[in-house]
Amino acid sequence: MSGRWRKFYLCCLIALGVDAACAEPRAVPSFKKDIQPIFNTQCVFCHVTGAENAGLNLARHDAYRNLVSTKSTESELLRVAPGDLEKSYLMHKLRGTQLSVGGNGDSMPKVDPARFLDAGQVELIEKWILGGAPNN
Ligand code: HEC
Repeated sequence: MSGRWRKFYLCCLIALGVDAACAEPRAVPSFKKDIQPIFNTQCVFCHVTGAENAGLNLARHDAYRNLVSTKSTESELLRVAPGDLEKSYLMHKLRGTQLSVGGNGDSMPKVDPARFLDAGQVELIEKWILGGAPNN
């Protein structure tokens, strides 16, 4: 192998290696560290044992199984369809597009401005769903 080819080969290996490292789960937000804390501060107030609005409990230990691949009570969609934002009713409730997919009720978190999500929080939830909605 000539020096030039060897260099090219090495660069490819490095590029591939870096790429693989970048694609690691770090890119997918953590359900426990990033997503659940949002529910704790903005949602459990109305979605907890004894106040399970729409049959949805978002408290720690319950939120994941109540959301992921679980059918919505208001629409035909799943609450969270791993990898698919448009089929995830949760996203429609957060964006206020729930009526356009045959759902009903208000956008979340309801009428309480103190609990509205900011763009960064919505983006975290989107990235987590697109990343396959892992229980990480
Ligand atoms: C002030 C109370 C209140 C807060 C805060 C609230 N919710 Fe709700 N949520 C409700 C009520 C009541 C319903 C049922 C009626 C409706 O949809 O308007 C509901 C319904 C839902 C549904 C529909 C469930 C299904 O199976 O179809 C989802 C999803 C949801 N909420 C998610 C959230 C999320 C996520 C948050 C936090 C960002 C949140 N809610 C905050 C009261 C609340």
